[in-house]
Amino acid sequence: MADSETASAKKYQADIPARNEPFFLKGSNNYDWGMKNRLANIFDADSGRTVMLAFDHGYFLGPTSGLERIDLDIVPLTPYADTLMLTRGILRSSIPPTYTGGIVLRASGGPSILKELSDEEIALSIDEVIRLNAAAMAVQVFVGGEFETRSIHNMTRLVDLGNRHGIATLAVTAVGKDMARDAQYIRLATRICAELGATYVKTYYVEDGFESVTASCPVPIVIAGGKKLPEREALQLANRAVEAGASGVDMGRNIFQAECPVAMIQAVRKVVHEGAAPREAFEFYETTRRESGVG
Ligand code: R5P
Repeated sequence: MADSETASAKKYQADIPARNEPFFLKGSNNYDWGMKNRLANIFDADSGRTVMLAFDHGYFLGPTSGLERIDLDIVPLTPYADTLMLTRGILRSSIPPTYTGGIVLRASGGPSILKELSDEEIALSIDEVIRLNAAAMAVQVFVGGEFETRSIHNMTRLVDLGNRHGIATLAVTAVGKDMARDAQYIRLATRICAELGATYVKTYYVEDGFESVTASCPVPIVIAGGKKLPEREALQLANRAVEAGASGVDMGRNIFQAECPVAMIQAVRKVVHEGAAPREAFEFYETTRRESGVG
């Protein structure tokens, strides 16, 4: 037997216990390897956070402002996103398959902006999700909406399918026009989604008591950007949300409708991943905007 093959020559290092590190993401430790690997393609393992670029709005809004030309308006932003949230139609038609970040596919839909929005059904098969190599499926949940029960059942069916294949389910809490958007409501909606199996939850940031929302939700929360704000205020919103326990942002209009979207997404990254103060991130935005020749 060659010397290198004797037990004494091999490096078994029996005195060092095998590493068994907990997974970095809240509430996700008990999933299998495939699910964790996909979650690590959405959330950055170093910061524990994500910058998701949301541009699935066309599934009920059509070509809204900033999304008229995905190839020209959005593709240049993709290198700065940890994850893209989009429809399968836009993924296939407009996103280069060389993109290696996480893909979160819009999995519910049906009504347009002209109809009752909570009247959604599942709009994607699990075969498509696997074929498109997605990390997660996004489903709208209308707590308090006209079709509340159906939207929750859409979510639980996707959770069952996703868990079978190690694919995450992102529950998106949709707040109707007439409903109070306060911490009490957001706590209710996010907790229901987590209790019924969502891997992570997207919701709106609220000024008073957002800490109670993140504390009472046992899985990660990312915040939606919402309506377009001045860039400085959008950076403040991202900062307040992560300071209050959000695991990142899933931001759309406040990035792609910014005066300089490519500068804005990088500024959002500074807040979310580097813990930059909003003032510092806004200065970065302004410098990058000027250097890009915008404005
Ligand atoms: C809306 O239902 C879509 O899921 C959007 O992706 C979501 O609202 C995030 O976009 P925004 O930051 O523009 O609110």
